[in-house]
Amino acid sequence: MKSRVFSGVQPTGNIHIGNYLGALKNWVKIQYDYESIFCIVDLHAITLYQEPAELRSKIAELAALFIAAGIDPKHSSVVVQSSIAEHAELAWMLTCVTPLGWLERMTQFKAKSETQESIGDGLLQYPVLMAADILLYNAAIVPVGDDQAQHLELCRDIALRFNSLYGETFVMPKTSMPTVGARVMGLDDPTKKMSKSAQGSGHSVALLDPPDVIRKKIMRATTDSNPAVDFETMGSGVENLLSIFQAFSEWTPDQMRAHFSGMRYGDLKKQVAEMVAVSLGPIQQRYKEITSEPGYLNGILRESAERVRPMAQETVRMVKQRMGLYTIS
Ligand code: TYM
Repeated sequence: MKSRVFSGVQPTGNIHIGNYLGALKNWVKIQYDYESIFCIVDLHAITLYQEPAELRSKIAELAALFIAAGIDPKHSSVVVQSSIAEHAELAWMLTCVTPLGWLERMTQFKAKSETQESIGDGLLQYPVLMAADILLYNAAIVPVGDDQAQHLELCRDIALRFNSLYGETFVMPKTSMPTVGARVMGLDDPTKKMSKSAQGSGHSVALLDPPDVIRKKIMRATTDSNPAVDFETMGSGVENLLSIFQAFSEWTPDQMRAHFSGMRYGDLKKQVAEMVAVSLGPIQQRYKEITSEPGYLNGILRESAERVRPMAQETVRMVKQRMGLYTIS
């Protein structure tokens, strides 16, 4: 049996090139090496208030974008988290073995809770639900961007703790990250990670941005006071633009140096914008086709849910048994 890969994206805001380069592009590449499950994590999305109609449409948009980006629904499962009740069920059981201190230490919890007037309990539990997503399918590999590394550490800690309390149950999942593009920075402020929730039209390039918008955003990107690319002294804005180009093109570091050394920033930006627009073109085209076919997406989500549900049920059955919970016989 092939081992499993699991990963997810929250259906909030506009999915951007950071999400694509940090996660989706890698999913597409490795999907056939594993039994692959890619999840639209709507239960995670509601840890912060989401307008219901908007959330509903973002779930469908994201599922279509997974497929448009190259996830093959004949091989890989595209699952909406809330359609498999066992995610929430396992999350509760794992919550009960997770010390509060572990959750309070999470940097994403600290950062997100600072922006809220009152903090919902779900925000604190967020990484436990994420651990449940992964452990539910006994995923061996979790391909994510760099910002999820701490959550993955916690997932392994929770799995270890469960195993030591109740006996060997969970596989330890490994984190998989791309060598280039694991942390794409904001175009307007290269000291901050590109984020779906950030305000400002020049911050990120969304996967569905038309080519003229992509060009405009990249041409306005923050650079530094050098006139041209110098690999020894470049600032983080230029480094970010170069790594976006490199991640899309898959050029080697030597190719990058040979091509871009000494190039003026105006030309660098033009070439980055062209590379991004040309790479996203086919994804946008497939997205249009997918969303114009009535029933296609729903069919995939239904089939995928049917395919993964028995795996989830089997894990929950085993966990209940290990913990001594009641199961109807
Ligand atoms: P989310 O929705 O914030 O991001 C989805 C994926 O995109 C990656 N990513 C980035 N990569 C590079 N540069 C960036 N600027 C950037 N921003 C985001 C993220 O690392 C992620 O891989 N908690 C997760 C969703 C989740 C999940 C899971 C992931 C829920 N359960 C189980 C893996 C396994 C999240 O909020 O991703």
